[in-house]
Amino acid sequence: MPMPEVTATAPGKIILFGEHAVVYGQPAIAAPLQAVQTRAIVRPGRAGGGVYIVAANLGRTIFVSPDPVEGEHALATAARLLLRRVAPPWPDLDILLHSTIPIASGLGSGAAATTALLRGLSLMLGLPSDPDTLNPLVFEIERLHHGTPSGIDNTVVVYERPIFFVKGSPIETFCIGQPIHLLVGDTGVASPTHLTVGDVRALFEADPARLTPIFSEIGAIARAARNAIEAGDSAALGPLMAANQRLLRDLTVSSAELDRLLQAASRAGALGAKLSGGGRGGNMIALIEPDSRSSVSEALLAAGAKQVIHTVLQPEARPTCLPS
Ligand code: PMV
Repeated sequence: MPMPEVTATAPGKIILFGEHAVVYGQPAIAAPLQAVQTRAIVRPGRAGGGVYIVAANLGRTIFVSPDPVEGEHALATAARLLLRRVAPPWPDLDILLHSTIPIASGLGSGAAATTALLRGLSLMLGLPSDPDTLNPLVFEIERLHHGTPSGIDNTVVVYERPIFFVKGSPIETFCIGQPIHLLVGDTGVASPTHLTVGDVRALFEADPARLTPIFSEIGAIARAARNAIEAGDSAALGPLMAANQRLLRDLTVSSAELDRLLQAASRAGALGAKLSGGGRGGNMIALIEPDSRSSVSEALLAAGAKQVIHTVLQPEARPTCLPS
């Protein structure tokens, strides 16, 4: 009997506080961005044809070789990691990947593509697809992309919930006291994360005594932000975002395009704004009151944003999060 077709998705993500410093052990806060996502459709392929990944956004068809091939695409490596968990021979499969997450723009497109692929393939192969199983696999693939990722991208994308993340520590979720309204503005400038992470590493190695306090200050901001979010004090988040952005500028990861969007958001009434992700391009986030959604959104578009997404971090109805 032919196997049925399966579909799996994975969301994008935003980093609210703490990018870059998180690579050096400081805490960071991230949340899934469900408005953009990667979808994987896994279906039986041509008999004897093997396993193929059709990555629509990359305009590439990637063959998954049974043995590693030098220079192969990380998605092929990811698929093989899973396929090797079933007894041979491998089934013939076509895996279609389609994403609405802009590439190299701080929204976790790489982690989402790997997660959707591994989720879909796990479902098709009858393997476990729960977050605890998938997260270490997606992290392994992130390491191929970035070299020294903190693990924040794969964790927030795989678990699909807001997280307070410390590299190497178990996943920590937290309660959101009041809805937090954000606009996510895209500069349209692609900026691969491994380059900004590498540049910050070079700065750190050249002058650790100057960089270490910057990372610590960013960590302190992330901790203060978590307290404010839990207390439902969204207004306190604005100045914390501005302070985080100043420190990111010191790390040289802002850019003229980002600064233009940040300034436009602030002038139009945003409570705070900062870049999100690796920086030097990609996306920024602005904290807004629901009333100023259209004015800030229009200001961002007028200042050159290629896309603006509204997202709300909602309080959860978990028992531990309910007011006593
Ligand atoms: O640019 P993104 O979405 O891959 O975010 C990377 C976040 C960094 O802190 C800059 C790197 C990392 O591995 O945590």
